[in-house]
Amino acid sequence: MFNSQMTWKRKHLLDIYNLSKEEILAVLDTAKGFKQLGRRSIKKIPALRGKTVVNLFVEPSTRTRISFELAAQRLAADIVNFTAEASSFKKGETLKDTAKILEALSADIVIIRHRSAGAPHFLSRVVNTSLVNAGDGAHAHPTQALLDLFTMREKVGDIAGKKVTILGDILFSRVARSNIWGLLKLGAQVTLCGPPTLVPKSLESMGCKVTYNLKEAISTADFINLLRIQHERQRHSMFPSLGEYSKLFGLNKERLAWTRPNAVIMHPGPVNRGVELDSEIADSDRSVILDQVTNGLAVRMAVLFLISGGDPSKETGDKPST
Ligand code: CP
Repeated sequence: MFNSQMTWKRKHLLDIYNLSKEEILAVLDTAKGFKQLGRRSIKKIPALRGKTVVNLFVEPSTRTRISFELAAQRLAADIVNFTAEASSFKKGETLKDTAKILEALSADIVIIRHRSAGAPHFLSRVVNTSLVNAGDGAHAHPTQALLDLFTMREKVGDIAGKKVTILGDILFSRVARSNIWGLLKLGAQVTLCGPPTLVPKSLESMGCKVTYNLKEAISTADFINLLRIQHERQRHSMFPSLGEYSKLFGLNKERLAWTRPNAVIMHPGPVNRGVELDSEIADSDRSVILDQVTNGLAVRMAVLFLISGGDPSKETGDKPST
């Protein structure tokens, strides 16, 4: 069931930038096996039995938090959900002290989402626990990028040479940054588009193309990945109004007609319907938004499995947990 031949040596998953192409493919191949496992009547394997995983989410999440929780359960780990609002954060306890407490309670893996860029990297220097970055400020969201790559490969196989347009608020998007690194490592051609205040030309130094012409950006793309406006990270408004944004850059039926008939519409969620994407497209068969969510579970199982020292070449998946 598992095809990856590569042994994973990393203790943490903090970023995509540092991963090699081979490491990315090892996660994607391992996730393929876990997706097959998810189709069986017994979906659990005891790969992480006896391990403790903590979801340390200091910023809201639906998809990432729930899929990491399910991923840990499917691998038979014990999972604890930390809720910032109901914790001693409210009494002034620091992130470092919180992580030290989780370490003292023998957490094996801490999955962290935090509004500050670099928070997971900081913790990796102060505790011995394995860390998984579930999104840090506008910096990185590696498992979102991995599940997006997985979803693209499911559609077209090899994505080398495929054209991927990322449309929307790139400046404040950790999803965009992690996707760009992952896509470039796998050989895709990346175009960024949106209002100039949210898509600085300087992003071309990463190795992608920047355009402010929507028709040019979407008419030849194989994949169009839409991003929401991340108001929570903007200190002041970057464009006159949401209505104006939608009028200039929102994907609607008329603009969908500019795209190739088989161009795939993606969105990491949450979707602001009627702003970056019209509902009828979000819910159409051109959209893979819910496939991305489904694939997030398999990808996060693969990440937890690999950083725990799991060897995909030895995992047959035929020993269901009781
Ligand atoms: N895509 C994503 O990170 O969604 P959540 O904020 O719901 O986890």
